[in-house]
Amino acid sequence: MRLLGALVWLTALWQATGAISWLAFKHVEAEAWNSTRLCRLSRQRHGFVKRQEKLCRRYRDVMRHVHTASHQSMHTCQKLFANHRWNCSSINFAPNYTRDLTAGTREQAFVYAQSAAALMHSVARACSAGTIFYCGCGRTPRRLPDGNFKWGGCGDNTKFGQRFARKFADSADRRKSKRTSQQERLRAKVNLHNNRAGSKAVQKSLRIECKCHGVSGSCNIKTCWRKLPDLLTIGQRLQRKYRAAIEVAMRRVGSRWQMAPATTAMGRFSKDDLIYNAKSPDYCVKDTSFGSLGTNGRECNASSTSHDGCQSMCCGRPYNTFTVEKIERCQCKYVWCCYVKCKTCKRWVDVHECT
Ligand SMILES: *[C@@H]1O[C@H](CO)[C@@H](O)[C@H](O)[C@H]1NC(C)=O
Ligand SMILES: *[C@@H]1O[C@H](CO)[C@@H](O)[C@H](O)[C@H]1NC(C)=O
Ligand SMILES: *[C@@H]1O[C@H](CO)[C@@H](O)[C@H](O)[C@H]1NC(C)=O
Ligand SMILES: *[C@@H]1O[C@H](CO)[C@@H](O)[C@H](O)[C@H]1NC(C)=O
Repeated sequence: MRLLGALVWLTALWQATGAISWLAFKHVEAEAWNSTRLCRLSRQRHGFVKRQEKLCRRYRDVMRHVHTASHQSMHTCQKLFANHRWNCSSINFAPNYTRDLTAGTREQAFVYAQSAAALMHSVARACSAGTIFYCGCGRTPRRLPDGNFKWGGCGDNTKFGQRFARKFADSADRRKSKRTSQQERLRAKVNLHNNRAGSKAVQKSLRIECKCHGVSGSCNIKTCWRKLPDLLTIGQRLQRKYRAAIEVAMRRVGSRWQMAPATTAMGRFSKDDLIYNAKSPDYCVKDTSFGSLGTNGRECNASSTSHDGCQSMCCGRPYNTFTVEKIERCQCKYVWCCYVKCKTCKRWVDVHECT
């Protein structure tokens, strides 16, 4: 019994130092920025592993963008999951995560991919904005463009962003790959795969932006460069992958163990797909250790049949309906010159809440 207790405790400790601990970097206060103690403090308090502390010392001016990424990661996740049963609230606990973000669930897969993407995105943009000493504009594609444009301008440096994000985000799990326990190896492999899927999503979101040149706006010649969309757009792409995520397990192939889909019915998965190795609970009832808040008191949409609908959100339980008064801007008119004038309207709306 005591051995079991120690085992549970050890597992808990392992989980406490998971690979997305760096998201706790969002707790850093602004005044710490110019202090040389930042990197050491981050290891003590903000969940950095040793390798990350080293990267912090080496790339001091990139840390500001790691900070941005940890904030954006949280906001984007919470925005994308606002109307889901699991609403990404447990990301706030960084670095002391609950089991929804350590056991190897689909939600964990999303958070890993998304935070790796946020890191790459933030650094890639900072490079092209000229705020990092070590990098500049992204390389223009070798392939010559079709049509009347030429590559130019300053594209986002996804290459540097990706290199840095990999070094930084993969640190904790790379170390664990050397461990022998099958379960630990699987978890580390899954995390690393999902980090990659995150950077793939950033890469695939690159767009082309152009500027016209030529006499009086005739656009005879266009100069184009590659630009990243905002993180929310990339997050939406990853959320689609989250819905289609594939369960994996260690399976014997010949004499070797390999990570493979848990059931053959699931087919194969590609580098873009999110994978997970532990089934999620339905998040209907409160289980604080698993980061499940339960849906009691959550607002739902009575006319929706999707995840935000009362049927799904309340898990089949009844819901209460209140009528509340909403105040909004309405009957807006453009006033010459140059503003918009609105009236305030009051409107009664029905609000539904799960019991
Ligand atoms: C750090 O920044 C604070 C204000 O942001 C300033 O008062 C302080 O002098 C700075 N310290 C160093 C060592 O630059
Ligand atoms: C998530 O839902 C809970 C209610 O279950 C609510 O208290 C919390 O504010 C929500 N968090 C976010 C980030 O939306
Ligand atoms: C995480 O847990 C550790 C150890 O229990 C504690 O010292 C630290 O303050 C916690 N961090 C946060 C952000 O809650
Ligand atoms: C509720 O769901 C319906 C159908 O999906 C949608 O048209 C409507 O905008 C939703 N209402 C709110 C308040 O989100």
